Amino acid sequence: MTLPSRLLVRDLAQLVTHRGAAAPLRGPALGDVELIQDAFVLCEDGRIAAVGSMRDLLRVGGEVEELDGSGRCAIPGLLDCHTHAAFAGDRVAEFSLRAAGASYEELHAAGGGILATVRATRAAGEAGLAEALRRHRGWMLRAGTTTFEAKSGYGLDRDTELASLRAVRDAGGIPTWLGAHVVPPEFDDADAYLDFALADVLPEAAKLAEAADVFLERGAFVAEQARRYLVACRDAGLTLRLHGDQFTDAGAIPLAIELGARSVDHLEETGDAGVRALAESDVSGVLLPAGALCLGRPMPPARALVDAGAAVALATDFNPGSAFCESLPLVCALACTQLKLSPEEALGACTVNAAHVLARAGRKGRIATGYDADLVLLDVPDWRYLAYHLGGELGIQPIVAGRRALP
Ligand code: NIG
Ligand code: FE
Repeated sequence: MTLPSRLLVRDLAQLVTHRGAAAPLRGPALGDVELIQDAFVLCEDGRIAAVGSMRDLLRVGGEVEELDGSGRCAIPGLLDCHTHAAFAGDRVAEFSLRAAGASYEELHAAGGGILATVRATRAAGEAGLAEALRRHRGWMLRAGTTTFEAKSGYGLDRDTELASLRAVRDAGGIPTWLGAHVVPPEFDDADAYLDFALADVLPEAAKLAEAADVFLERGAFVAEQARRYLVACRDAGLTLRLHGDQFTDAGAIPLAIELGARSVDHLEETGDAGVRALAESDVSGVLLPAGALCLGRPMPPARALVDAGAAVALATDFNPGSAFCESLPLVCALACTQLKLSPEEALGACTVNAAHVLARAGRKGRIATGYDADLVLLDVPDWRYLAYHLGGELGIQPIVAGRRALP
């Protein structure tokens, strides 16, 4: 018989977690945290067995590993609900071109951008892709991400799309089939590509992925094509996500609401009508300020969305082009400085509300009894350094399923 694994993190300067068990958090609830000073967390068999103030800690009998949290703060493990981590190679040369004035859309139209990464990802093969995923996953973990979603979408042929989804799953991520990212070069029209993707890739992709995603945008897919793709994916049992309102408003929010999508992501071009529609719906808005920053785009209307009562999550959009950034702490810094969210709201958006987007809010996103024992220790005097220390050292120690995830 194996002994239960137990970890007691004690004498934490602060522990912060959102109150209650509701998800998604809307309006004032997004900023409503419980802050415990001089705190402990007891993890048992991958779950949180107890959490509270040191003065209420009863003697823990039996075998237990202790971790001294003094001088440190605990936050829930961060969840990155929107990444494109399944890619090979990089686009550093394009980064230089963009620094010299070329636009992201121009590079894409000239066969670079996403299509450059499609070439690199196809060339990497399954082993190369799996290796890239492990590397990207390590970066995310060191930034405090304990759960991540990652999309395919740089294969766009049957084998590379399925290899991407397997690589995400094998790296411990949550796979999303972004089969409608752009039209690959061997097809000259989007409808012919969708015929192929839905007939030849969807049946297998649906066995590997939890969700499907589409890039509804000028130069990618129009609303009618997005609808066709998403309806077929929904019929195959996948949850729906959309990239929408990134460069143009092409009708992503009404489509997401009509189809009962889980989220619509980006929203840099969303106006008042979109804010109101989203707030009245069950669709979450996933905001990706690192991408907006890197491309010099307007920031999404985060404050208006939260104030109107929309369910808002934050994510990195980690990818080799528009946001080569795996850091949710940096995204929290952008949320506070650019999106005018409070540190508490930013935290709720990449814990509880991100867990909701990933259909895991009953298990993840909070430090509470019964939840998965995923937390992050920060070597800082106040947990708000998470957003305050812009791109700075936080001394991150992630704990996943009750075990130290880094040496
Ligand atoms: O979310 N917008 C489409 N896809 C990604 C970018 C992918 C890339 O540039 O490689 C995004 O920004
Ligand atoms: Fe994206």
